[in-house]
Amino acid sequence: MFRTPDQDNLHKIIVLNTKGGCGKTTLATNVASFYALRGPPPTLLDYDPHGFSLRWLDKRPASRPAIHGIAAYELPDQAQGRAHLNMQPDTRTVISDLPANIDLNDLYVHIHAADSILIPVLPSEIDIFSASRFIAELLLDVGLDRRNRRIAIVANRVRKNTRSCQVLMRFLTSLKIPMIAMLRDSQNYVQATAQGIGIFEMPVYKVRKDIGPMNAIVNWLDQWHMRRLDTAIAPGFEHLPGAEVLTPVQQKDPVYRG
Ligand SMILES: Nc1ncnc2c1ncn2[C@@H]1O[C@H](COP(=O)(O)OP(=O)(O)O)[C@@H](O)[C@H]1O
Ligand SMILES: [Mg+2]
Repeated sequence: MFRTPDQDNLHKIIVLNTKGGCGKTTLATNVASFYALRGPPPTLLDYDPHGFSLRWLDKRPASRPAIHGIAAYELPDQAQGRAHLNMQPDTRTVISDLPANIDLNDLYVHIHAADSILIPVLPSEIDIFSASRFIAELLLDVGLDRRNRRIAIVANRVRKNTRSCQVLMRFLTSLKIPMIAMLRDSQNYVQATAQGIGIFEMPVYKVRKDIGPMNAIVNWLDQWHMRRLDTAIAPGFEHLPGAEVLTPVQQKDPVYRG
C-alpha cells in the first residue's frame, strides 16, 4: 500500500519538451538509474501513454538497484498532477517523464510543482525553432519566471563543431536559461535503453566520454535544496552561479559522487 513520503524532502524532477524524440525518456531513465545506484530507490512516473520509461523499467535486470515505476498516464486526469503524493515512503526522488502533447493546464500543474525542470533540446533547426516557441510558452503562458533557478536545458545528440551545434549554442546563449550539459550522439544511450540500465551502469571504458555530461546533470539536480532556498530568499538572483548560460568551455566536469 502506498503512503505519502515527506514532501519537503522529496525532490520532484520533471523532464519535458513538447517536441517528440528529443531525449526526454533517455534523460529521465538515466537520471533514475543514477539515483537508484545511490539509493534509496527513486520513483519514475511515466506520463506518456506510449509508456517507454516503463518499458525500460520492465527490461531492467532484477540484479540492478530498484526503481519504483508508476504508470501515471493511467491515472484519472484530476489525480495526474498529484501522483507524487502517492508513492513509496522510502522514495526521495521522483522523476516524471512528460509526454510531448501535454496540454497547457497539465503543463501549469507540473511546472509549478517541480523542484527541477530538465528540457532536452536537439541541435536541429526544427527542434531549436520548436524549443524557442515552447520556452516562450513556459515564460508567457505558464508563468515560469526566467530567473527561477529550477529550469535547465540539456543539449542532446550534439556533434561538436557542426553548423547545427553552433546554431543551438547561439540559441541557448540568447535564452538566459542555463545549459548544464551536452550529451553526445552515442549508441551508448541506445544500448543502455535496450538493457533497462543507465550510462552509469555501463562499463567505464565504454562510457568514458558520457560520464562527464551526466555528472554535470546530476550535480545540478543535487543542488535543488539550495536553488529552492535561493529562489525563496532572493528572487533577483541573476548574479548567482548557475543562472548564467555555460558555454562548452566553461562546463564543469564534476566528479561522480555515487
Ligand atoms: N544522446 C543520444 N545519442 C543517441 N541516441 C539517442 C540519444 N538520446 C536519445 N537517443 C535516441 O533517440 C530516440 C528518441 O529519444 P527519446 O528519449 O525516446 O525521446 P523522447 O522521449 O523525447 O520522445 C530514441 O531512439 C533514443 O534511443
Ligand atoms: Mg519519451
